[in-house]
Amino acid sequence: MLKHSPEIFQTSLLGEKMATFCGAKGNKFLFSNENKLVTSWLPQSLMKVLTFAETTKSHTDGHSAFTRILHRDVFSPETLKKYVPVMHALAREHMARDWKPNSVVKVLPASKKYTFELASRIFLGEADAERVRKLSEPFAVAMKGLFSVPVDLPGTAYRRAIRAGEALREELMRMVGERKKERDEGKGEGEARDILSKMLMERNGDGEFLSEKEICNRVVGLLVASYDTTSYAVTSVMDHLAQFPHIYNEVFKEQMSIAESKGPGELLMWDDIEKMKYSWNVVRESLRVTPPAAGAFREAATEFTYAGFTIPKGWKTFWTVYSTHKNPDFFPEPERFDPSRFEGSGPAPYTFVPFGGGPKMCPGKEYARLELLVMIHNVVTRFKLEKTIPDEKIVYYATPTPVHGLPLRLHPHQ
Ligand code: HEM
Repeated sequence: MLKHSPEIFQTSLLGEKMATFCGAKGNKFLFSNENKLVTSWLPQSLMKVLTFAETTKSHTDGHSAFTRILHRDVFSPETLKKYVPVMHALAREHMARDWKPNSVVKVLPASKKYTFELASRIFLGEADAERVRKLSEPFAVAMKGLFSVPVDLPGTAYRRAIRAGEALREELMRMVGERKKERDEGKGEGEARDILSKMLMERNGDGEFLSEKEICNRVVGLLVASYDTTSYAVTSVMDHLAQFPHIYNEVFKEQMSIAESKGPGELLMWDDIEKMKYSWNVVRESLRVTPPAAGAFREAATEFTYAGFTIPKGWKTFWTVYSTHKNPDFFPEPERFDPSRFEGSGPAPYTFVPFGGGPKMCPGKEYARLELLVMIHNVVTRFKLEKTIPDEKIVYYATPTPVHGLPLRLHPHQ
């Protein structure tokens, strides 16, 4: 930005010519020109690891059917409310298993485990530990290779990721096959118990059912989009709570007053989440300071001009979270962690964009909010947190990652 322009610059990324948009104006421009000047695009390496290539021509139909299901069924306000106690019950299991008093927990891997098991339970209706393991093991290998150098030779991370992607899809196809059998045996929509069944009931614009491979691609996309992002967001929040005792104390007070209003063993409900206002500001400030997604790609559907720069058809574009989140004009002293920025009317439009904006804004935003707040409740009501590596280095793969996984010592409350 300093060298070229604070609004837009050209670079080469992932082997593509890339116009990088910066600032609130750049965000607004791209978000409001979705499916007009720009359309979806993902790197070829990522598509090769994650999807069945032969389904790409049905991509548009699959995407709109999938988005419809997400908004209508999976993330509707009524459905989201039902997820809260499920999230809490699973968080308790994880606390008992992985978050032991006076021990050291590595927050990032622990959060990944929780996030994946939760997604398997909620989206795939799968709670059986062995079957979740059959999904989670190849999934983790595939995720590691997503942004590796795309050289498909024996021994490379990319080759391992491709093989793991195949194993993951094989397991998912088996699950889709089971649900298809239910559909073909005449079970109605009312009995569609998870996203796999719902996708199998959905028809495209020509009145045809979506193919099993298309469904599999979409489900993998959902798992990928939720996994690193949410796990890293949990990690970043815990890191900030461990670093700033005055902020931890405010969160503790808020969460204890909710805990004390409940009966013994009673699970959190939607109304409890609505009371977690300060905790949510802490989450938002964590998402501002260390956003899990750095931005997103698009492709120019036609030639167009922005800020005096002409972008040819076929070029890729990238909008960037950091160009507003770390801009002192929008967030004074941008490196200072200060949840009070989100009090009152909060940040200016198009400046706080951890979930993007416009028609393609993250559909899992509310789900992520619930998962994060439920996790905070479970951790803070049990433990004080102490960093065991005070200056742990953060490296940037697709998401910012603490190199040792953020080991925290858990001190039970007296
Ligand atoms: C803190 C956690 C999360 C962050 C920061 C985040 C961020 C984002 C961002 C920046 C995008 C791209 C928007 C764009 O293309 O302009 C996105 C897309 C997406 N996210 Fe999230 N996300 C999070 C959690 C989740 C969760 C939990 C789910 C699902 C359970 C999810 C599902 C998706 C999907 C399906 C898309 C693609 C939407 C499309 O192509 O239309 N995300 N997310």
